[in-house]
Amino acid sequence: MEMEQLVSLAKRRGFLFQSSEIYGGLGGFWDYGPMGVLLKRNVREAWWHDMVTAHNELEIPPGASSAYEMTGLDSTIIMHPQVWKVSGHYDLFCDLMVDCRESKRRYRYDQVEGRWVEHNGRSIFVAGYRSGEEAVAEIEQKALKYFGLRSKNKDELRWSGPMTPLPEVVDRGRVLGPDAKQLGTLTEPREFNLMFKTIVGALGGEEDAAFLRPETAQGIFVNFKNVLDSTRVRVPFGIAQIGKSFRNEITPRNFTFRSREFEQMEIEFFCHPDTSPAWYHYWRRRRFQWYVDLGLAGDRLRLRDHEPEELSHYSCGTADIEYAFPFLAPGEFGELEGVAHRGDFDLRSHMEGKLVKEQGPDGPRLVVELDDRGQPRYRGSGKDLSYFDDESKQRYVPHVIEPSAGADRATLAFLCEAYSEDEVPDEKGKPTKRVFMKFHPRLAPIKAAVFPLVKKDGMPEVAKQIYANLKRHMSVFYDEKGAVGRRYRRQDEIGTPFCITVDGQSLADGTVTIRDRDTLKQWRVKKEECLEQLKERLTG
Ligand code: GAP
Repeated sequence: MEMEQLVSLAKRRGFLFQSSEIYGGLGGFWDYGPMGVLLKRNVREAWWHDMVTAHNELEIPPGASSAYEMTGLDSTIIMHPQVWKVSGHYDLFCDLMVDCRESKRRYRYDQVEGRWVEHNGRSIFVAGYRSGEEAVAEIEQKALKYFGLRSKNKDELRWSGPMTPLPEVVDRGRVLGPDAKQLGTLTEPREFNLMFKTIVGALGGEEDAAFLRPETAQGIFVNFKNVLDSTRVRVPFGIAQIGKSFRNEITPRNFTFRSREFEQMEIEFFCHPDTSPAWYHYWRRRRFQWYVDLGLAGDRLRLRDHEPEELSHYSCGTADIEYAFPFLAPGEFGELEGVAHRGDFDLRSHMEGKLVKEQGPDGPRLVVELDDRGQPRYRGSGKDLSYFDDESKQRYVPHVIEPSAGADRATLAFLCEAYSEDEVPDEKGKPTKRVFMKFHPRLAPIKAAVFPLVKKDGMPEVAKQIYANLKRHMSVFYDEKGAVGRRYRRQDEIGTPFCITVDGQSLADGTVTIRDRDTLKQWRVKKEECLEQLKERLTG
């Protein structure tokens, strides 16, 4: 499947629209249309159901000593600015970026790459901003244009070396920027904080600046004590939260994959330090299996352990669940979710102040970062966020395992995976291409559509009655407009697993046909049995 085909279907069938499209759109912001909102809601509900309400309370992974509980939270998007200072986001949540003085465009430093090329003794570095084969083709075109050559003269160019990242190029005066016509227009890299800033209060100045949260996780850490004190949960337990996060991404791209406003589904799982490796392995497996169970199977999904140098300064282990999105070059994968062992970094930071790693006598350790006067650079809350186990009589700061997923990325992966094509005969028997979205029944926006074969002879009345009965139990759609073949195609394109049709025979014997989206098989059932049949097949 080409990405363009999915993007076009997503718009045509009401899954995704560009935000503020009538004003030309706003980069990195997306609206979910009537079908998209149902799909994404189903993704969120499947996550909440499987992780929070329906998890197996008796499950004890090998190496862990007791079963666990799950609870939920809905914290605010804007929090006390100190949260972000202590968490490290204020200082560290930055990307390096370069500006182009000529085109006024801005690029992520680590994403610009190019190749050296020579013509008539002049050697330049032609930079691009795409990956894979597209990048190579674009760079070749740019080089031809720069040297005033036609495509037929491309053999006059002497290319040297492989694609090279911009940070490895020393002589910036000879770099031709991705959208520039002249050499040397890219600035030196600068740090750019990804948090969106806002002002709280009508009269607020800089001292009233606050930030839109770049992750939901911190809302959980700062409420750890509240949850403990207001419920009867005992460690080990998890707090789950679904909510919007905001990052001022320098280069939002690839549809909803990298957006500036997106939704996260995060769990902070609190456990005893000794059992934390067992829980880390448990959550890696469990989260991977969740995607498999909802249809992301095969070699397009993988679990990849981070290399030691990739780990955040606090992490004792992280694995990414990745999907081979069709917009990536062959062999490349994009992150759906990170499962991180965060140790006691977060709870300790919110107690003591911003932590940094230093080399201690027994190896690296986390200590409070100090300013020039020897004071904590950013003070923590000073509140005691340790846990007292009244059975073992032990007090400790729990370790945290964090499975952090993106609802939009998961939705996009399910959309990509669902896109299917086959050939079916049209009304005249001619083979025609059919596009259908093979969503898992739990995720399908509409579970069943009900049609009268024709809009007369009492068929609409019977169909509307079936529709009304089903609607109380699931999302169903009624359609009586146009040829029935077209109505089937429309439902196929939004991924409706079943279509129920009331025809002439229905009026005689009270039966209707049910059509399966994937196999196209049709069978007859008594109209009163539709609900039972659908329930069985949707959950079976
Ligand atoms: N609390 C940890 C955390 O936020 P992250 O890897 O930065 O970790 C977690 O984000 C997940 O959030 C990612 O795996 C991805 O699914 C989603 N995500 C992050 N940035 C995103 C963006 N700009 N657009 C869409 N989803 C994003």
